[in-house]
Amino acid sequence: MSMRSSDQSTSQPVHIERVRKSFGTFTAVSDFTLHIAAGEFVTFLGPSGCGKTTTLKMLSGLLPQDGGEIRFGDRRIDMLPANKRNIGLVFQNYALFPHMTVAENIGFGLRMRHWSKADKKERVDQLLALVRLEGLADRKPDQLSGGQQQRVAVARALAFKPDLVLLDEPLSNLDAKLREQVRLDLRDIQREAKQTTVFVTHDQVEALVMSDRIVLMNGGHIEQIGTPVDLYATPATEFGARFVGANNLFAAKLAETGTTPRATLDGSSQTAPLTSVSTLLTEIGAPIWYCVRPEHIRTRKSGETAADSGLTTFEGRVTDKVYQGTTILVDIELKGLGKLRAERPTSEAAHLNVGDDIDIFIEQAHAVPRA
Ligand SMILES: Nc1ncnc2c1ncn2[C@@H]1O[C@H](COP(=O)(O)OP(=O)(O)OP(=O)(O)O)[C@@H](O)[C@H]1O
Ligand SMILES: [Mg+2]
Repeated sequence: MSMRSSDQSTSQPVHIERVRKSFGTFTAVSDFTLHIAAGEFVTFLGPSGCGKTTTLKMLSGLLPQDGGEIRFGDRRIDMLPANKRNIGLVFQNYALFPHMTVAENIGFGLRMRHWSKADKKERVDQLLALVRLEGLADRKPDQLSGGQQQRVAVARALAFKPDLVLLDEPLSNLDAKLREQVRLDLRDIQREAKQTTVFVTHDQVEALVMSDRIVLMNGGHIEQIGTPVDLYATPATEFGARFVGANNLFAAKLAETGTTPRATLDGSSQTAPLTSVSTLLTEIGAPIWYCVRPEHIRTRKSGETAADSGLTTFEGRVTDKVYQGTTILVDIELKGLGKLRAERPTSEAAHLNVGDDIDIFIEQAHAVPRA
């Protein structure tokens, strides 16, 4: 068996075309198509049961797909058994070998692939440096913190220069603080190694922080593929608008398209400007959700003057106020339109009280189709 030379690129574009999987009559994944660039970090994001792990298992070969095609570059790999696909795996319970040292754990896949002793030593040292565990090579897993164990698991998955690394919720066993640190570590390690990676999570903040692109999944299908900014600023669907970040949704109709799109809100006679519109929307009169992020709502007590002209104004009353340190959540009942939540810097909203009559100004609004 030949060793892969160390200057060979480990990066491979990955093409997934119309891959699907059913269990009996239940469709777990339908027509999944995605093209991943070499070295890209892609996250599958979606609620529990949406098909993330099932898709990952089909990529890795642990589960046969019902149809479709998977290629690394030009090479079709979905006919190959799991151990011939050259994929590195990290699961939620990253199961290090407890009787092996850190170095032996990292070198395990190299031994299986018959790397020479010298090459193996060089590669393990490289990875220890990459995941910043130099000096801990001879420890056993139970002598490491959770975050350190997690990094050993990542190093083990990267060691044999896989074409693709798959990580299925690898951070969910870590406490909140460590999770925040390790996700940035993991991101840096992936960038430095230029390793094509698919990461799975149901945590939208994790997805926004780590990914080059996010595949938003729902009920076995893809809702949207885009950068973190795409998903947050211009969700394609109602599901995306509700799942990623906080949002206020109002039933409305598209009143104007083009460069100055506008909407007519149900229960209001005035039209309101939109700053962006889902690519799925083109028809005037189409039912939409008028989506407003809490941080895009400015408030002002009735009677106070301010230079907010040009922004859409609605009248309302403060129904609740939640202090969060740097920001304050302000719940507002809008005349004729219902409830809405604003989030403002504390310095700006501290003087508002429950029961106050206020005017609100919408700085940005986005439209998605309404079924
Ligand atoms: N072997 C199986 N037999 C029958 N149904 C299955 C099987 N494996 C998964 N499913 C179903 O397929 C759907 C997708 O499961 P999957 O494990 O891919 O979800 P997930 O997105 O990874 O969720 P989670 O965030 O909870 O891990 C679920 O409804 C699940 O119950
Ligand atoms: Mg899963």
